[in-house]
Amino acid sequence: MLNKERHYAILTWLNRYERATVNQLAKAFNVTRETIRSDLNLLAQEGGIERCHGGAIIKRRIFHTQSVNNLDTTIIHFFDAAQSKKTIKSRHKGRKMKGKVCILGSFNVDIIANVDRFPQSGESIFSENTIIGPGGKGANQALAVSKCNVKTHFVAKVGNDQFSQMAFEHLSSSAIDSFTLYQDKEKKTGTAIIYVCQSDGENMIAISPGANRSITADEVEAITPEVRNSDIFLTQLENNLPATFRAIEIARRNGIKVILNPAPWSADVVHCLKNVDFLTPNETEASLLSAIHITDLASAKLAAKAIKARGVGHVIITLGAKGALIYDGEQFIHIPALKAVCVDTTGAGDAFNGAFAAAMAKGESIIQAAKFACAFASLAVEKEGASNMPEYKDVLTRLTHYNDKNILTEKN
Ligand code: RIB
Repeated sequence: MLNKERHYAILTWLNRYERATVNQLAKAFNVTRETIRSDLNLLAQEGGIERCHGGAIIKRRIFHTQSVNNLDTTIIHFFDAAQSKKTIKSRHKGRKMKGKVCILGSFNVDIIANVDRFPQSGESIFSENTIIGPGGKGANQALAVSKCNVKTHFVAKVGNDQFSQMAFEHLSSSAIDSFTLYQDKEKKTGTAIIYVCQSDGENMIAISPGANRSITADEVEAITPEVRNSDIFLTQLENNLPATFRAIEIARRNGIKVILNPAPWSADVVHCLKNVDFLTPNETEASLLSAIHITDLASAKLAAKAIKARGVGHVIITLGAKGALIYDGEQFIHIPALKAVCVDTTGAGDAFNGAFAAAMAKGESIIQAAKFACAFASLAVEKEGASNMPEYKDVLTRLTHYNDKNILTEKN
């Protein structure tokens, strides 16, 4: 293990257990006590930890920046889970946490124009209300996970601009327990221009990925301890694909279940499907991947079957107002959606994926997890903004309206 990786692993350990002795760490990382002492002294100098007699304690709200192999990148580690009971209580309102999800994904600044209708080509229209806020499929999904009383670690890359500060403030003030933010010194933070149609809440998005696309396979490799400490690894396709595929491989190698939300669509996704336990395309992505145009539940079933044949463990097609279709190779299970007053569909898929990952990390069955995710997403579309996720207690209330008799199972 390289020094850099061991330092990160030590921070991860301290994040989890709050304190560690030199002896424990030397044994865990199979190095001498002298090596650990010098690691701890260095980390203490950087301000990440405090030395104590015979070991170290993690500091409150660690904001640890270190240079890595290539000089164009900086890492910001933020750990907030190992704090005083009081802080945990205020973040999670005293609720019991269960399971852990590690998310690799994008952070974008969303510029959202609320419009009466989408503009035609060459047309200028007015937006009554334009909002700038945090977004990115990865960050939105991490936020959704964190709302479900599940420990959350988020990994992303931002640029060297004022938007990176927005990322830091957004993530550190959220219920996300810890994150690793790489910072590219050259590229800009990702942005997304979003139109939301006020009549039906539908959206159109143009993403400028910026630094999201410059995360490297080595940077992903460095978060192995976080992946290994999780129950579920969740990712999407907004980062550069070689790094994303490496992360999926790391999770698979360590026996961690992988959920891949194949959005935005890339035909290259086929190269990683064998390592994916749960693939969660929407209708468009499922149609493109299967070459079967989905128009209804029957065509969705054909598409799910074709996708399953490409090697994924389970296919879960999100069908918007029609709910979700699960296919495990033996049976189709249709989970109908709950009724919602749709205000903004942006981030509905993120809400579904985050909630599904959280429920799976808690050890729920696939059907229960998909049902929970449908309820979570039905509340998310009632709120404006892609990162505006519902409260856990509201999801539980909405779930009481769910009629399990509507869940239909059909043998293959
Ligand atoms: O899924 C919604 C998200 O897609 C937005 O927040 C936008 O940033 C894009 O990544």
